[in-house]
Amino acid sequence: MNDLNILNQSFEKIKNYLDANNNADNQVIQFRQPAQLREAIHFGIEESGVTEFEFLDLIDKYLEYSVKTGNKQFLNQLYSGFNFPAFIGEIFTVLANTSMYTYEVAPVATMIEKEMISLMNSYAGYTDGDGIFVTGGSNANLMGMFSARNRIFPDGRAHGYDRNLKLTAFVSEQAHYSFETAANVLGIGAKNVIKVKSDDSGRMTPEALEMEIFKSLERGEKPFFVAATCATTLLGAYDPIDKIADICKKFGIWLHADGSFGGSLILSEKYRNLMQGIERTDSFAWNPHKLMNIPLVCSVFLVKKKGTLQYNLTDLSTDYIFHDIDEVEDLGKKSIQCGRRVDAVKLWFAWKYYGLEGYRQRIDNLMEIAIYAEKKVKEHPQLELLSLRQSFAVCFRYIPENQSDLNKFNLQLRESMRKSGKSIVNYGYIGKELAIRLITANGELMKSDIDLFFNNLLTQTASIADKSEKNYAG
Ligand SMILES: Cc1ncc(COP(=O)(O)O)c(C=O)c1O
Repeated sequence: MNDLNILNQSFEKIKNYLDANNNADNQVIQFRQPAQLREAIHFGIEESGVTEFEFLDLIDKYLEYSVKTGNKQFLNQLYSGFNFPAFIGEIFTVLANTSMYTYEVAPVATMIEKEMISLMNSYAGYTDGDGIFVTGGSNANLMGMFSARNRIFPDGRAHGYDRNLKLTAFVSEQAHYSFETAANVLGIGAKNVIKVKSDDSGRMTPEALEMEIFKSLERGEKPFFVAATCATTLLGAYDPIDKIADICKKFGIWLHADGSFGGSLILSEKYRNLMQGIERTDSFAWNPHKLMNIPLVCSVFLVKKKGTLQYNLTDLSTDYIFHDIDEVEDLGKKSIQCGRRVDAVKLWFAWKYYGLEGYRQRIDNLMEIAIYAEKKVKEHPQLELLSLRQSFAVCFRYIPENQSDLNKFNLQLRESMRKSGKSIVNYGYIGKELAIRLITANGELMKSDIDLFFNNLLTQTASIADKSEKNYAG
């Protein structure tokens, strides 16, 4: 194989892919069932390698059938979009291929990660903070609970903790499932994560939190951890941090902010008031791979107090790796990973490229596009908003004439849109009602993209209604 030729042709393919992403007529996905994909792509590995032609063809096929998450009709997930400088940063990260554990093998990346942590701490208002890049928001939440457990049970790090004492954690009923996984991993038990009532827009009710803490104390348990979500996965709700912080202070409980989805809102001067009180939290999960559009994975766990990360770990006198010879502490001493991917560099390139102001504007734009989408829903007589929009999630449904089962209709609508490949949105249940959830996460979205989405949706409703009439007639 001629590697140089592959490189040149790959470059062309990247350019074509990016051009296609920017063309609104192109599909978000060419949907195929697994059996059809198996027909289109030979997934097995053979004794001898493929030819150059076959290798290049595999690249085409991979791109052809993958979801085009950079297409502006990809409104499905909490991440989306294509971030050019971050993409460049990622390519060169892979080229330089190193591991974050020591300054020795990652000098520049270590300095970059430290700089990013310090900048992000300054937004969080952690004046003596620290942090580490982790493998996703779920793991940042795990780190939050882990730090809280170690604060109240330092002996637990080496000896395990006394299982006769029941630790209890508190999250809103809208919180992400990763807290239960974290409690499971830490030996606390998923059932000891208590779900606190939220209000109509999905925000945790502080009075309900206090009541749950009292009840837990009465049962002889040890409340040790509260998570405030900024923003919740389905409704995009921001829990009232300040009020929750008052309660945590009163009971001496660790307060973690799960900003895995909406933490980047902190960059916006206009909207960051939704996170008022963030500087009072003990830790903060923030995912630049969501609203900052950095390629997955790019996720940060911040802590208010320096030393927490080192304190979390048992003795790391591992002299075969940490030699302590350079004038900087190796970041591996703060992480539960050994080998660790370089995720800070792509973020750094993106932040350098857009500047602080550029990112502020991107986040403001996301909110303004969400407001526009909400307005479109409110203005259309057959669209119904199912929850008050707080941030980047718009939850709604279509109400057709002569249809009694709205959940069935809207599920069909979502599925037929996905399979048409024109636009993709997700869905979830608010109580018993199925809601279509549109997410504005791509910093380059424009109002015209939202117009196109609703045109696609309305065209699809017409074709579904048409089909059901034909079925009825037949
Ligand atoms: C509120 C919230 N927390 C945590 C997570 C988990 O983040 P990750 O997918 O990076 O593990 C998500 C993911 O969507 C989320 O919405």
